[in-house]
Amino acid sequence: MRFKDEHHEYRDDARDEKDRVIIFDTTLRDGEQCPGATMTFEEKLEVAELLDEMGVDVIEAGFPIASQGDFESVQEIARRSKNAVICGLARAQPGDIDRCAEAIRPAERGRIHTFIGTSPLHRKYQMDIDEAECLARVTASVSRARGLTDDVEWSAMDATRTEIDFLCRCVEAAIKAGATTVNIPDTVGYAYHDEFGDLIRVLQERVPGADEIIFSTHCHNDLGLAVANSLAGVTAGARQVECAVNGLGERAGNAALEEIVMAIHTRADALSVWTGVDTTLLTRASKLVSRVTAFPVQYNKAIVGRNAFAHESGIHQDGVLKHAGTFEIMTPESVGVKESSLVMGKHSGRHAFREKLKELGYELGDNAFEDAFVRFKGLADVKKHVYDEDIEALVDQEIASAQD
Ligand code: KIV
Ligand code: ZN
Repeated sequence: MRFKDEHHEYRDDARDEKDRVIIFDTTLRDGEQCPGATMTFEEKLEVAELLDEMGVDVIEAGFPIASQGDFESVQEIARRSKNAVICGLARAQPGDIDRCAEAIRPAERGRIHTFIGTSPLHRKYQMDIDEAECLARVTASVSRARGLTDDVEWSAMDATRTEIDFLCRCVEAAIKAGATTVNIPDTVGYAYHDEFGDLIRVLQERVPGADEIIFSTHCHNDLGLAVANSLAGVTAGARQVECAVNGLGERAGNAALEEIVMAIHTRADALSVWTGVDTTLLTRASKLVSRVTAFPVQYNKAIVGRNAFAHESGIHQDGVLKHAGTFEIMTPESVGVKESSLVMGKHSGRHAFREKLKELGYELGDNAFEDAFVRFKGLADVKKHVYDEDIEALVDQEIASAQD
């Protein structure tokens, strides 16, 4: 694992399989459920291909019973995928499960992901069933799925608002019926991190057979806590995180894949876990998903926002020019960005201005530089964006007036 040596530099020693966090991407399923994010067949194949290349462990390719289009895209992704496990979603109904099994059949490694709402609200208002019926459906759905594939994930929808005793009984039933992964969704993004971590801990301690399966997190972002909650789950022992590129998903979305991966990568010293994802492809994945969904990425989005490696203030620019580590906790290259950018604006200082002039091919004497800097500051005060062309015009004027 990663640790700091005596020079305070990070070093990696051998990675232990038990510390590996399985990255389960649901961009094509939960992500696509986000209003307005529908993708075409071709676009889904393109996204799946990149996820596979990136080293995502499980791709949830869709919900095969939902439509013929979903069925066909899951099937085609299953045919084409080279490395990842291809997963389809199914409600706790025989028709869903059988259709899902058919869709994932071409995959070298396929998974059926079946789920049922376990909370009182879901039992009463969504399905109008009692606890006994809910438990019976857990057993029946997981057993049916297990008869069709060896890799079965079971999810307790709205787990974080389910009575803990009943949730334990549901998880036990799912394990007994053959679930190999048990997913604990915070479906409505209601939990906070301590609570979510404790839930994962309690399930591991109390449910017989819990040490035989992988616990998974699936946190929604209604309170902006999806990534923090997922990491609390990992700290408590979960070894699969469900997430989506750019945090796409129902309502406020799912935990953002790029944030989960980079938090684990950057703070491996604290979290002591790792993933198999090639982080240098994160920006490409973000741009691709943004393009095919037509969902813009907010400028200040962690990891993949266009400002994630941009510095404007003079103090920050000066620091970064001297040593990038002063204001960057990860390198731009590590997420597939060529270099940090120094944005020229009213907060920029002399150091950055001089570097910018160098980049644009100017070398000014001290006096001319000072004059140009004063002009630049004046311009930046009245203009929101100072582009390279503005600086070139300003310096050219400065040179021309010096020659008069
Ligand atoms: O949020 C949720 O509970 C889900 C399940 C279907 C896993 O997306
Ligand atoms: Zn969800």
